[in-house]
Amino acid sequence: MRVNHKKLKKIVVFSSGAGSNAEKIISYFKKVSDVCISVVYTNNPAAGVLKKAKNHGVKTRVFSAQEYQKEVLKELLSIDPAIIVLAGFLWKIPKNYIDNFPNKIINIHPSLLPKYGGNGMYGNNVFKEVFKNKEELTGITIHYIDEKFDTGPIIFQAQVKLLPKDDVTEIANKTRQLEHKFFSAQIHKLIR
Ligand code: GRF
Repeated sequence: MRVNHKKLKKIVVFSSGAGSNAEKIISYFKKVSDVCISVVYTNNPAAGVLKKAKNHGVKTRVFSAQEYQKEVLKELLSIDPAIIVLAGFLWKIPKNYIDNFPNKIINIHPSLLPKYGGNGMYGNNVFKEVFKNKEELTGITIHYIDEKFDTGPIIFQAQVKLLPKDDVTEIANKTRQLEHKFFSAQIHKLIR
């Protein structure tokens, strides 16, 4: 009889929106035998990520602000994930989550932090600012979560050059391409 000594590592994903990164992560880890995506959590019942996860047969969980206080943390503790991935999750992570999962909660941000981070700096707001300031370079940051927005220790950054003709949409496209290219492999590296 063969015994599988490898423990299955569980990833939990949090997303509030379209879920293109969540979908990439799900697809990537389908091919990794000792890792599974346990559940995709969202605060937004209308989030596109719900359909994407369901299409891949991944469990989803929509939670309310009240459930976020205690219930969701309790669930996470019983799942015991190797990593908690914020992929476009817009709510702040409470301190008791960080205390219970030190160095296990990571986020992806669509700029080269510390530039264009902080409160209100999400989605197109970031790309509009990058455009307005005529940046020649932008990129992505994967970082650990702390109690503020976008200030936790940086794990990984990737850059892309911008051209004078790049508008906000093109800046968003270039940034998204970097996210899709690097995020899953970085998660894999962290849990390996
Ligand atoms: C990404 O740009 C990510 O950097 C930011 O939110 C966006 C999520 O996009 N935190 P999606 O829902 O994965 O398509």
